[in-house]
Amino acid sequence: MKDIYILSIESSCDETSMAIVKNGKQVESFTVLTQMDTHAHFGGVVPEIASRMHTENITMVLEETLKKSKIKMENIDAIAVTYAPGLLGSLLVGVEFAKTLSLVYKKPLIAVHHTIGHIYANAIDNTLTFPLLALVVSGGHTDLILMEEDYSFKLLGSTLDDAIGECYDKVARVLDLPYPGGPNIDRLAEKGLPTYNLPKPVNDETYNFSFSGLKSYIINLVHNEKQKGNSIRKEDLACSFQITATDELVRKVELALKSNFVKEFIVAGGVSANHYLRDEMKKISEKYKVKFSIPEFKYCTDNAAMIGAAAYPLFLKSKFVDFNLNAKSNVSFFE
Ligand code: KG4
Ligand code: ZN
Repeated sequence: MKDIYILSIESSCDETSMAIVKNGKQVESFTVLTQMDTHAHFGGVVPEIASRMHTENITMVLEETLKKSKIKMENIDAIAVTYAPGLLGSLLVGVEFAKTLSLVYKKPLIAVHHTIGHIYANAIDNTLTFPLLALVVSGGHTDLILMEEDYSFKLLGSTLDDAIGECYDKVARVLDLPYPGGPNIDRLAEKGLPTYNLPKPVNDETYNFSFSGLKSYIINLVHNEKQKGNSIRKEDLACSFQITATDELVRKVELALKSNFVKEFIVAGGVSANHYLRDEMKKISEKYKVKFSIPEFKYCTDNAAMIGAAAYPLFLKSKFVDFNLNAKSNVSFFE
């Protein structure tokens, strides 16, 4: 069969990214332009600034991506773009740019869901083996998903309140760590010890998660200590939080692995970049002797390579969209 080259675009939040992915697996060219330093001044992503910066940068990102590869626009088989979920203004920049490329170069257009993109980051340099269990841990998701085949998503459980990434970011904020919080907690935790005794998240036997209690406990603890004039051992608190939160994720993964036959366990989403989580998830997959996959660091956080990987099964089924495609800030993808 002929090799398929997909040019993919991701602009759902504060990264303008493009990639050329061959056969949904091999990343031929990859560019990420992050706006992180700009948004760090404001302590979080400012939607208006994000969409304006995407507009300013997107042409440059395309030129860079094409320059880095030997593939010309004429040899691209399809254009893929993240259409949901995310910041509407940011998504729109990518969607309109993708439509323009599709029209000018007469290439079919593929719409990809951002979270499905995170899942398919595990298809890069890997063949997904079904049935598989996916743990999605990001700024907006904490989900346990069963996949029987490509694009079949059965939700086993989800967070009842905060997503794990959101929780990392809030805890980072109360510890006065700069945006983005997750990687900073990760770095700080490595220097600390789990000396704070934190409440365990809801100790039930469902596949659901709850992190708001843990988050509120830490926020109150820091405020109370500050009021008393006591100092916080930030490294130790970061370490205690990270272990408490991750252990709960591991416990639910273990429940799912015990009760569902799967051949592979994959982890996806921004929080999959976390060092402690990566080690612990690998350990649990070894205990249950299932194949394990977690993306390379550069494919854990938002990037277009994962969008190209997720677009490939849609390409094979000719699931193309027309120019009525619109960006959506929130869409579920579960069965
Ligand atoms: O998947 P993602 O880029 O955004 C969504 O699609 O929602 O994930 C972003 C989240 C943020 O909450 C960020 O703090 C967190 O991933 N994150 C991390 C790490 N790197 C990114 N959390 C913990 N440890 C990290 N190393
Ligand atoms: Zn993401």
